[in-house]
Amino acid sequence: MSHPDPRPLQARAPGSPLAGRLGVPGDKSISHRALMFGALAVGTTEISGLLEGEDVLRTAAAMRALGAEVERVGPGAWRVSGRGVGGLVEPADVLDMGNSGTAARLLLGLLAGHPVFATMTGDASLRKRPMKRVTEPLSATGAAFWTREGGRLPLAIRGAADPLPIDYTLPVASAQVKSACLLAGLCAPGTTRVVEREPTRDHTENMLRHFGATVSVEDTAQGRLVTLEGQPELVAAPVLVPGDPSSAAFPIVSALLVPGSRVVVENIGLNPLRTGLITTLREMGAALRVENERVAGGEPVGDLVAEYTELTGVTVPPGRAPSMIDEYPVLAVAAAAARGVTRMTGLAELRVKESDRLAATFALLAANGVKATIEGDDLIVEGTAGAIPGGGTVETHMDHRIAMSALVMGLAARAPVTADDAAFIDTSFPGFATLMNGLAGTEAMAAP
Ligand code: S3P
Repeated sequence: MSHPDPRPLQARAPGSPLAGRLGVPGDKSISHRALMFGALAVGTTEISGLLEGEDVLRTAAAMRALGAEVERVGPGAWRVSGRGVGGLVEPADVLDMGNSGTAARLLLGLLAGHPVFATMTGDASLRKRPMKRVTEPLSATGAAFWTREGGRLPLAIRGAADPLPIDYTLPVASAQVKSACLLAGLCAPGTTRVVEREPTRDHTENMLRHFGATVSVEDTAQGRLVTLEGQPELVAAPVLVPGDPSSAAFPIVSALLVPGSRVVVENIGLNPLRTGLITTLREMGAALRVENERVAGGEPVGDLVAEYTELTGVTVPPGRAPSMIDEYPVLAVAAAAARGVTRMTGLAELRVKESDRLAATFALLAANGVKATIEGDDLIVEGTAGAIPGGGTVETHMDHRIAMSALVMGLAARAPVTADDAAFIDTSFPGFATLMNGLAGTEAMAAP
């Protein structure tokens, strides 16, 4: 399965170190939320640093279809005039969320609390992904859903006229499910309660507070309890979107793997619920330093300095998964370059990402001569101590992160690595290859 117009891309060792300072595109999670909360707030929300990738542009289009005014005023600078909590209108046409699970699931939460009828679809990847994980808890609001077999898209929703608050314990560690419940709770009177056994990214909680909602977080015997007081007045507030740590992961791992490199990624989000990869790379011995740490727009940010290091294999505990859930494919590339074995445990959620990322990551390694095994939900990678054979073509399965991971491997392998379709990189990291070539000072990534 690929893009209607697949764009293969090949990466080879640049022959010289990667060097330079760079910024990466805005955080995808925060960008989706900024547009959605802006649409629900009274007044005009000014957003800077918005990720202008395809996933976020789908959210922008959906918010327009629901009656908000959404306007681009410059690169990364967007203005959203909201309709107030409960003020969204019925969309006139199908909402197409493209490749984006976050856009689809968070939007379903919003729609559940509004008395509207809506239909939703997505691309071939998104139409395979499980939606029952949100439609089930959201049904408790009084919203009704009609889905394809297995709870997949396309689906139809009739939102609740008088939504009830949800009280839900997440069966899987998912910030999207938590956020969908909280977004529905905005329109319901009373208190919405969500319990998560393992903490997941808390951008929704942070941004709700930033817009004036009352959200509390408490550690309980059952896990982390998040409560939201319903029907707040959300008031427009400026949002500064930091660089996406999940995008920064690609130049950072590249710098660690290409001998002699030193790269600084400026202004990246360092929310502790997102930094599992940094922790893991440091355990592998990586020379990674944070400089200029500060708080911007309610989120911790800083500049990350990455220098070439000979890495050593480690065991990554399952409890760390939510804080680095999108980073396992590129960690597997780092593990392939390391000395010794890396065991990544508790990866069940990887099977339901833009692709089955556990299988796709395994195939990426295998196609390039790296020994790996899957045992249950664990991925075990045998490091090559800096001698990744490469030479393979990687099936990206409509998954931006598999494509970028394959290309990072190509920078550090003995023979070039090809991604069969790099088109989906635009969902989260427009300009990826140009930026990496700038660090390399050569066309290390080019059409084969
Ligand atoms: C996201 C949550 C994660 C992550 C995704 C973005 C979010 O998904 O993989 O890229 O913005 O809430 P899950 O909630 O499915 O773990």
